[in-house]
Amino acid sequence: MANFGDWLNKRFPLRELMREHLTEYFAPKNFNFLYYTGSLLLLMIVMQFITGFLLMAHYVPTGPEAFNSVQGIMYDTRWGWLIRYMHVDGVSLIFVLLYLHIGRGMLYGSYRKPRELLWIVGYTIYILMMGEAFLGYVLPFGNLSYWAGQVITSIIQALPAVGPALAVLARGGAGIGTATLERFLALHAVLWFWIIAAAIFIHILALHQVGSNNPDGIEIKENKGADGHPVDGIPFHPYYTVKDIFGVGVWLTIFAAVIFYAPTMHGVFLERTTFSPANPMVSLPDVTPPWYLAPFYAMLRAIPNKDGGIFLMILAVVLPFFLPWLDRSPVKSSRYRPVYRAMILLLAVTFFTLAWVGEQPPLPKYFLLERGGAAIYVGFYLLLPIISRWEPTRKVPERVTS
Ligand code: HEM
Repeated sequence: MANFGDWLNKRFPLRELMREHLTEYFAPKNFNFLYYTGSLLLLMIVMQFITGFLLMAHYVPTGPEAFNSVQGIMYDTRWGWLIRYMHVDGVSLIFVLLYLHIGRGMLYGSYRKPRELLWIVGYTIYILMMGEAFLGYVLPFGNLSYWAGQVITSIIQALPAVGPALAVLARGGAGIGTATLERFLALHAVLWFWIIAAAIFIHILALHQVGSNNPDGIEIKENKGADGHPVDGIPFHPYYTVKDIFGVGVWLTIFAAVIFYAPTMHGVFLERTTFSPANPMVSLPDVTPPWYLAPFYAMLRAIPNKDGGIFLMILAVVLPFFLPWLDRSPVKSSRYRPVYRAMILLLAVTFFTLAWVGEQPPLPKYFLLERGGAAIYVGFYLLLPIISRWEPTRKVPERVTS
């Protein structure tokens, strides 16, 4: 075995890579449960790839046959239901992890110098994931898929100048049909997916260049011992690899519970209207997006004018990109910034309230929630440069705390 290891290492820098990224990669010793999210996201992406590949072996992207082929996977293919539910529920659970992962970054100021690029690449992955989820959403060609495809491509159509041409390109013609499904499948399973995979690779390389942040927001690299290693760091392997295996066990238990006991999550993970075939003659009274896209949809509806709504929605999506430069506080972690901590809590409550409103029919009684929510969401980012400059901060300790 040792000989094989030597043979291999002369031809491929396996040991150097292991040393650099695992055994001699020092991570802060005060990671909490929120630091499981990165490795769990990696696991989930790999699972989506495998289950997606298996689904493709039976899926047919042609008009009504698309719907029938998915029903065939559910009812006539051995273990087909399991593979499909793993793939469908996997999407919602990935977004649960993404929101925890992003929220963690905001709580501990992980977007601040020197991690700006890491944040930007991460947030780009999030936007790409929204696109990937939408492409997949249309593929089963249930009635909701059809009308969701209509709504999103009509938003594309409303973009200035390039909109109409882009919408035809996206649909593969004037309407949603076989040409749309074929190009959505090609994008979903090949191009878009691999762009996400490449972005994840860059995300992790960027992380290893600067090192992980931690709940205290202290740079462990600035305090090294006589051996040249950070005094508050521990080797990623074996310490965190073993810890991550525990996290994977807990997470897979949750995943299994969802699939076996509540695979549609009462219509939240898989809507009822996806169980009837696409029908251009039967429009749905209220087409709402899946829960993880609903906050942005609620903001789109907050302004009754279509162009204004689209502008607000795009603004809401892009604002987090600028977080590293909007935050001016000398302190990173919200542990030592009570005002910022309260702001994040308010932002989180607002975001999930908007997700709930986005799922409701477009009635006047929700206008206040939609507008108030949008104002708080946008206000968080626009006021941060001012508030972060004067907010009182607590003393940050020299060493990481437990
Ligand atoms: C599928 C998508 C993603 C994957 C697979 C992924 C993977 C990872 C991994 C493995 C880590 C190190 C472990 C950890 O800190 O949990 C990490 C850290 C990080 N990620 Fe991601 N990530 C993804 C999406 C995102 C997004 C959407 C953002 C931000 C908008 C983001 C921002 C960060 C930041 C700031 C860190 C460093 C956190 C710290 O050190 O405190 N990531 N990511």
